[in-house]
Amino acid sequence: MKIINIVGARPNFMKMAPIIKEMNKRQSIEQILVHTGQHYDQKLSHAFFDELGIPKPDINLNIGSDTHTRQVARIMMAFEEIIDDYKPDMILVVGDVNSTMACSLVAAKKGVKITHVEAGIRSGDRNMPEEINRLVTDAIANYLLAPSPDAIDNLQKEGHAPEKIGFVGNIMIDTLHMHATDIQSSKILDTLSLRAHKYVTLTLHRPSNVDNKSSLQNILQALKVIQERIPIVFPVHPRTAKMIETFGLKEEMTTMRNLIQIEPIGYLDFGKLISNSKFVLTDSGGIQEETTVYGIPCITLRENTERPITITEGTNELAGADANKILELVNKIWQGQWKKGQIPTYWDGHAAQRIIDFILQQPH
Ligand code: UD1
Repeated sequence: MKIINIVGARPNFMKMAPIIKEMNKRQSIEQILVHTGQHYDQKLSHAFFDELGIPKPDINLNIGSDTHTRQVARIMMAFEEIIDDYKPDMILVVGDVNSTMACSLVAAKKGVKITHVEAGIRSGDRNMPEEINRLVTDAIANYLLAPSPDAIDNLQKEGHAPEKIGFVGNIMIDTLHMHATDIQSSKILDTLSLRAHKYVTLTLHRPSNVDNKSSLQNILQALKVIQERIPIVFPVHPRTAKMIETFGLKEEMTTMRNLIQIEPIGYLDFGKLISNSKFVLTDSGGIQEETTVYGIPCITLRENTERPITITEGTNELAGADANKILELVNKIWQGQWKKGQIPTYWDGHAAQRIIDFILQQPH
């Protein structure tokens, strides 16, 4: 069976690494890795290949940044040639980035089977580019591999046949387990002169927060108060850096003495940082899941989440970009009133095995 595995942007790498490893163990699979080049920076892309032991991509489409429409269109045009050359039986896509949807559309047009890992999660918010990517990808994928029961419910409500759906668990947690020792060996706390549980980690990159001046200012208002009590480490995403500059908020940020702005960091350092935080402030999807597994309180700077299980079972709460709500939740942490949480079913480090077993059980 010939499979093309696809990655494009940072959150794809930690999902694909264990899948490639597991496929290597199965003799009946021949795989190649295609990187669309949606992310191309050393810090957003290449660094992860080395750290996570992902083989160098067989093909890099070098698409780079652009408007979403142009980016998707260019990925599609370039990927069509790859399908024509390699003639795969299946493509495997992960997550919800533009590359996931773009390559799936091409495969569907070419009659190539599609397996989508992390299928079925829904925020219900179609203003989010990722929600459109999720809906489109799942609508055309042949096999829908879900991380949680809520995702299966969503797929069933959308009318997908039960035999297309598999409950495989959370693939990202495979990577977290695989690198647990390396993560804890990271020296990032020493480098930044931080003590475990005496700092907060912040990430911010959603267009709804950072492309909107008033949302960004509301969040900054909350940060101003928080950093008076505890240092905040903030690896700044390139989109966010650009918008801070555009909105003229750079100076306001440098006046916060306890807000430690750093460049984006690698997987191992970041894992060390969040797993030793007092709490985490984020608008990322994956970090809501990782904090749940680490049992670290997470305040999500969004109005909704496609990962509700991190709230119902994990350590996550939603605050939006509302300074009062953020500070209210932070106070709950200061008062020791945060929920403990538990690790959801199948977030156990064995998702890759279940994914490949599922694929090999299908007719081909
Ligand atoms: C993308 C994903 C998002 C994911 C995020 C993780 C989509 C729709 N969005 O968002 O789901 O959470 O990645 O980072 O697919 N840039 C660089 N270097 C790079 C890549 C981007 O400097 O290597 C800058 C460019 O100025 C670019 C901007 O970041 O315009 C945004 O990049 P883009 O890939 O469009 O989306 P992200 O915001 O990174």
